[in-house]
Amino acid sequence: MSLAVHELRVGDPSGVPVVLLHAFPLDHRMWADVAELLVGEPTVLAPDLPGFGTSPSGDSLAGAAGAGPSIDAMADAVADALHARGVPRAVVGGLSMGGYVAMALVERHPGLVAGLALCDTKSTADPDAARENRLRVATTVESDGTLDAVLGMRTTLVGESSRATRADLVERVGGWIADQAPAGVAWAQRAMAGRPDRTAVLAGFAGPALVAVGAEDDLTPLAAAEHMAAAMTGAELVVVPASGHLTAVENPEPLAAALTRLRERVG
Ligand code: MLT
Repeated sequence: MSLAVHELRVGDPSGVPVVLLHAFPLDHRMWADVAELLVGEPTVLAPDLPGFGTSPSGDSLAGAAGAGPSIDAMADAVADALHARGVPRAVVGGLSMGGYVAMALVERHPGLVAGLALCDTKSTADPDAARENRLRVATTVESDGTLDAVLGMRTTLVGESSRATRADLVERVGGWIADQAPAGVAWAQRAMAGRPDRTAVLAGFAGPALVAVGAEDDLTPLAAAEHMAAAMTGAELVVVPASGHLTAVENPEPLAAALTRLRERVG
């Protein structure tokens, strides 16, 4: 069994593809605008992470990381799916939870990551209170059998500008959340709760890198982006205006332009 990998764009088969990893609790659809806006002829692949979209659950994917929810198991599932498609190297971009998975790929499958884009994410582990809250949410969605505990994220994921002026965008994000399975949401919360600090992994990454953050991102703010950029050599830091945590959805143009520059650096 393998992850669902969506081909958002078919490009030059001789080039290095772009692989985009989605945020929690969404799926590959959040990357559609960025994929379209990338300049050049990239192939753009967007997996649904375990338990999201049309992918099998985390528990049903045999991961090298062993049993139980983990970001490592998500990264192994992405690596397996890419290898199965004959993709040996990619420009890997991840937003928030997708960024946690991208950092685990750098650690566990370094040959796969030709270029790295970390968007609205952080390399540090959770403080105790945040970890406990994740475990509480996991138990709640499972026992409720609904997504009520996370539906409110449609307004907290986006920034002040989107909340004030873009009701359609907030509803679109809400629709994506509502489409997810409670079991997948619970599994991912437990996986994120257990993730380690990966700042040292970034320090060891020698390839081209981009760190992007929404100017209105309260969840993983500028300081978290600066921390990651400072850990890497020569990472470009981009602050995306008029956007909260979901830069890829709220203001995809500057993010796509930065990803295009990253691709050019990979060659
Ligand atoms: C996300 O957007 O993926 C989440 O905010 C990640 C998290 O809960 O840490």
